[in-house]
Amino acid sequence: MSVHRIIIGAGGGIAKAFYQQILELEPETLITRISSQDITDAIHCDYSETSIREVCQNLSTADELSVHIFNGQLVSEGSFPEKSLKAFDSDYFQRLIHSNTIVPMLFLKYLLPLFKPKTRGLISVLSARVGSIDDNHLGGWYSYRASKSALNQMLQCLAAELRHRSPSTTVIAFHPGTTDTELSKPFQKNVSAERLFSPQFVASRLYSLCSQPVSADRALFTDWQHEAIAW
Ligand SMILES: NC(=O)c1ccc[n+]([C@@H]2O[C@H](COP(=O)([O-])OP(=O)(O)OC[C@H]3O[C@@H](n4cnc5c(N)ncnc54)[C@H](OP(=O)(O)O)[C@@H]3O)[C@@H](O)[C@H]2O)c1
Repeated sequence: MSVHRIIIGAGGGIAKAFYQQILELEPETLITRISSQDITDAIHCDYSETSIREVCQNLSTADELSVHIFNGQLVSEGSFPEKSLKAFDSDYFQRLIHSNTIVPMLFLKYLLPLFKPKTRGLISVLSARVGSIDDNHLGGWYSYRASKSALNQMLQCLAAELRHRSPSTTVIAFHPGTTDTELSKPFQKNVSAERLFSPQFVASRLYSLCSQPVSADRALFTDWQHEAIAW
């Protein structure tokens, strides 16, 4: 049986740890990595729609196909998440919508033909608990929250579409918890040591979640403890 794992946004902290995990545990698996960075053996993509389409057109399907998407931004070009609506900035919001929502969905759009009726498929996309509307009691972080909420909504749409197209494919929106990567660096000072996870730990939690996929009709929004998050 052929197995193919596609890692998108492969230059990120969690993505690199996830790749190492697969290398160690699945030496036979075909792994494709895609990144905007120059990484040896990875496919380069500039995240424009043309570039995403070209990259995806050259990828092959497999009996077992997993797509793992890690793309996401929080601080962007010197702009930080908004503490108040006063700070809402359309350029910052558009950049976050592009990296956090549009880029993952364009990849999935162009990878959709690889998911056949008999494919045992899995799609995991890094989301964030703050994308939960139900869980939003504190407010703030308007753009980041909204970009992840939009991502979650689209993943639920995709799960509905896949029910007919590729019924053995599971879609997971994954919340890693606060993880020690470039993305969280500016926000780590108030996080206790036991709540700041290593990329290796989070990668192992994602790996174990993806290794026991439940055949679900709907997309799952799940945290690092494998507990469901309210949408
Ligand atoms: N770290 C945390 O505490 C935390 C908490 C909740 C959710 N998350 C989510 O986890 C995911 C992985 O983040 P990380 O913690 O590993 O951070 P990271 O090391 O900063 O990785 C950033 C990721 O985003 C991609 N990326 C960077 N700029 C981009 C752009 N302009 N357009 C599209 N993609 C871009 C990178 O891909 P390439 O560089 O390979 O192109 C990489 O996959 C993100 O979706 C993030 O929102 C992280």
